[in-house]
Order: sequence, then C-alpha cells, then structure tokens
Amino acid sequence: MLDSLSRRAFLRAATITLAALALPGHVRAVGQAQGCDILIIGSGAAGLRCALECLKLAPELSTVVVSKGMVSRCATCMAAGGMNAVLGSVDGDSFERHLFDTVKGGDYLVDQTLTHAFCVEAPKQIRQLDYWGMPFARTQDGFVKSRPFGGSSRLRTHYCKDKTGHYLSHALLDMALSEGVKLLMDHELLDIAVEDGHLDGVVLRDVRTGEIAPLLCRCLVLATGGYTRIFWNRTSTPFGASGDGIAAALRCGLTFCDSEMIQFHPTGVLHGGTLISEAARSAGAYLVNNKGERFMQRYAPKRMELGPRDILARAIETEIAEGRGFGSGDEAYVLLDMRHLDRKKVATGLPQIVHLAKLFENTDILREPLKIRPTAHYSMGGIGVARWQTMETEMAGIFTCGEASCVSLHGANRLGGNSLTDTVVTGKWAGQGACQRAKKVNFASGKKAAALAAAWRERFQQVTAGQGNASEMYALRENLGQQLWNNLGIFRDEERLKQLNAVLGELWESYGQVRVPNANPIYNTAFTDYVELGNLLLLARCAALAAQGRKESRGAHWRIDFPKRDDEKFLTHSVVRLGAGGDLDLSWKKVDVSLYPPKERKY
Ligand code: FUM
Repeated sequence: MLDSLSRRAFLRAATITLAALALPGHVRAVGQAQGCDILIIGSGAAGLRCALECLKLAPELSTVVVSKGMVSRCATCMAAGGMNAVLGSVDGDSFERHLFDTVKGGDYLVDQTLTHAFCVEAPKQIRQLDYWGMPFARTQDGFVKSRPFGGSSRLRTHYCKDKTGHYLSHALLDMALSEGVKLLMDHELLDIAVEDGHLDGVVLRDVRTGEIAPLLCRCLVLATGGYTRIFWNRTSTPFGASGDGIAAALRCGLTFCDSEMIQFHPTGVLHGGTLISEAARSAGAYLVNNKGERFMQRYAPKRMELGPRDILARAIETEIAEGRGFGSGDEAYVLLDMRHLDRKKVATGLPQIVHLAKLFENTDILREPLKIRPTAHYSMGGIGVARWQTMETEMAGIFTCGEASCVSLHGANRLGGNSLTDTVVTGKWAGQGACQRAKKVNFASGKKAAALAAAWRERFQQVTAGQGNASEMYALRENLGQQLWNNLGIFRDEERLKQLNAVLGELWESYGQVRVPNANPIYNTAFTDYVELGNLLLLARCAALAAQGRKESRGAHWRIDFPKRDDEKFLTHSVVRLGAGGDLDLSWKKVDVSLYPPKERKY
C-alpha cells in the first residue's frame, strides 16, 4: 500500500478543492463565490511560515495556501548553502555586524532600520526551526553549526549539508501539515481583483480541471517568489518562478520596486544554470581561469572566492571577456576546482553538489574541475511594502513576503544565506499582519472578482480558439531570455538598454497575437506557459526600464557607461507602476540610511 502512495498522492490528501464547501471552517461560501479568511499564494518557505503564524495566532480563521505546482517544488530549495543569523557572540559577532555586512553587501540600497529588526529576529527564527525539527548541522558539543559565506565578516550561516532550503521547506511543510493547514495545490493565480482601491478577491485557475474561479478572502498574502525566470535559459530557479504574484500586483495597482536588481549567482552549471551552492567555495573550492590562476586575487584579494556575489559574477564574466575563460559565446565558462579538498568530506558533506555536477555536466567533481558560469538566481526587486512590521502593501489587506516582496532588505545585492532567513522572518511578520486585519474586516462583495474570472474564461476561449502554433510561443520565450542575458545581464549600458526596451515593446505586441494550440481545459499546461510568458514579459519591461533609468553602478546593477555609484542622484529605490493602457511609470523613493552612512565598498 505504502509503495503505491506517491508524494503527490500523499500531498493531495492534505489538499482541498475550490468546490469543497462541505469542509466547515476551511473554505466557506460567500455569496455566489467561495472564500477563506486568509489566502496565501505560494507554498515556498515564506508562504508556509506565514501560514504557520496564522494557524498559531488565529486558529479560528481559515487559512489556505495556494500552490501552482506540487507543494515543496519551490525556489526555496534552490538556496542551498545556509541561513544567516547571529546565534551567539562567537568572534565578537553581533546584530550590528550582521546588519553592516548586509548593508555593505547590498551597496547601501538596504533600508537600515527594518534590516536591524530582521537581524534581531533572525536567531529567534533559527531556534524555532530547530525546535520544529530542521536537521541543522551541529558541532561536537551539540550547537547549531555555521560555515563561512560570501560577504559575511563572521561565521553565521547555519546549514543542513548543501540542501538547506530543501530541509527548510520540508520542515515547514511537515509542521504545516500537522497543524492542519489547507492546501490548494495545482492552482495558478491569474489576477487580483480590486474594487475602489480595496481588495475584493482573486482569480485562480485549477490547472488540473481548467476551472477558472473567483476566490474571496479577508486578507491576501503574496508569497509567489521572484522573477529570475525572465532569464529563461540561464537561471537557477525553477520553471514556475515567473513572478506571477508581482505581475498580478502590478496589474491591480501596486508597485514593483528595485526591479532592475537581479542577482547572478557566480556558480551555475554551464548548461542550464542550475545552482552549485556557495557551500562549495565555503569548503575551499577555487575559481580558476584558463591560465590556471585563482583569478579572484585580482578582484577581491581579501575575500577571494568568498567575496559578495555581484563582484564574483563580474569577475568571471571579465575573465571570459578578456580571453582568460574557456569556450566561447553561450558556451564560455571558467572552472570550479575542488580536487584539493578531502574527497570523503566533500562526498558526505556536499552530496548535492557532487550529484548535480554529475547530472548536468557529467563531471566527477571529486576528480575533475566543473564548468561553471554565473546564473540568474535571485530577485532583490519585488512588490513594494508600505509597513515592514506587517509586510502590508499600499493596499490594505494585501500583504507580501519572501522573494516576491521588496521590503528593501537586500538592496542592490543580497548576501548569500540571507534569503532563507528572509523567508521565515518576513513570512512571520506577514502572518501577524494578516491575522490582525482578518479578525477585523469582512469579505468584500466579490463582484469584481467574479467579473474578472468571467473575463479570464473568455480569454481562455479566445486564446485557445483556432490554429495556435506552440513553437511561436516558445520561440518568443526563448528570445526573451536571450535578449535579457545579452542586454540586461551582468554588464549593462545605455545603448543596449535602449535597444532592449524597444525590443521588449515589440515582444509585448507579439505576445498579443500568441495563440495556444490546445482548447482542452484539463491539464492545459500550454495555457499556464502562456500566462507565465505574459507575466515574464511585463516584469522584464519593468526591469529594463528601471535599469535604463538608473545611470550608475550599484551592486548587481553594473553600467559600463556609468561605472561609479552615484549617491547624490541614486541613493533611491526605483518604483514602477503600471498605468492605464499598459504604460509603465518609473519614479524613485529615498533609501533609509539612518544607521550607516554610505561609504566605499571594498573586499
Ligand atoms: O549558493 C547557495 O547556496 C545559495 C544560497 C542563497 O542564495 O542564499
């Protein structure tokens, strides 16, 4: 019996359906539609942590977590090397040092007051996870262990082998299941309905049945992850990381902040970009060019391979551009060398790295160096947050957390190890905020959500009618990835960005003509691809616009025509809004530098 119980079947046992009105207390009938008190979109670590907070603070409220695919198939699993927090004062570590490393790593685009609060909350969350059963590596004395990580001046990255995100998401999922969380699996977010500036509900599509339906909620939490899949052909994130929540937020009137700030992780496998965790370099792996040199000596002599990611990614691309790499064009690379390390330690301590090197490059990393190249890994940009204490957006009742949000914790370049901590800290804050509000407010009428659902049903009919050509849609997606890698990649300049903005306008027009050659609503994943492509294009347009507007170099945003940071003009967050008629509006918002005034960044 157990042999035939697949993971999917097991998870389905904890899921509900949109039609499951019979489940008292979980999903309820609200007028003509269904609703739940708190609706969390996204089942990565941020969404699940948020749900756990809601279940704890308000067990009387119904909390539902929506996931587009199978729960646990999330970008959380792609952050592997660890999570940062000051657990003790080892080596004189302190919240202030964690804060300062984060601010410096983010090239002073980090909002400092809230980041201090994040550093203070971080250890509490690690202890909570430890209590919930996350199997952290431990010292001989039983303390949670830490490893060195890029850009951190102290040992504060706590880990579970080289799969920390995987263990984190499963520890949270186990807890959420045992606390009775309700999951709406295989449902994609199509849109957020807003009536007179107030949250009305959302529109979801059940990917399995094709049903498109409105769902009402008192509070909505967007935990949908980032948008690095705009770099379709070179990213470490899963296929589903298409920024659906950010795109829906833009369409309902919310802001998209620091959209140009996209992190390239230095070590993706050459073919496809899957992540080789920084845990490799933490264990002592070298980055080597075609002359056999450890070239980081030239770029970050004190930190070498453990410098911050923006500097490493640029260093690798510079080596390649100046002829010290291997291969050429899309096939250019440098090497990650682990041969000098203790084989047994690598095999047992870094099993995922060994596995991925074999799987993607057919390389036995214990015996030969691995071909690597930077890969789009993390979105520092995301949905604007109006009140960090609750992660509420400008629109009352809509909250956000994790990578989908831009609370300005990571600035222009996130430190490795801060993202997993971000998921549990901001997930908790959002859960607190959503509970407080959901206890006070009632459901909206749902009229707008019903109308929007009807419009989406019509769109499905229209887009799937007639002779579609799937290859055109996928060619468009391929083209988008290539355009972005070439023009919005690690090095940017005015000419390329200007041209990119024009090309994106054309791709946007072409998207309007895309037809999906499958009118069957059941498991119509081509329609999901169609919806995702629209979201990716919208977010790429925002990122390219903000990148052209930011005429300076800061963190991951490097302009070869403006190679200096310009604090006079650009100590500001970019803010993009979607206007009526589809136009984008770019404005700027001041950064909170109240604790550490900007200074030159050296490693
Ligand atoms: O390299 C890594 O393990 C990634 C970690 C992170 O993004 O925080």
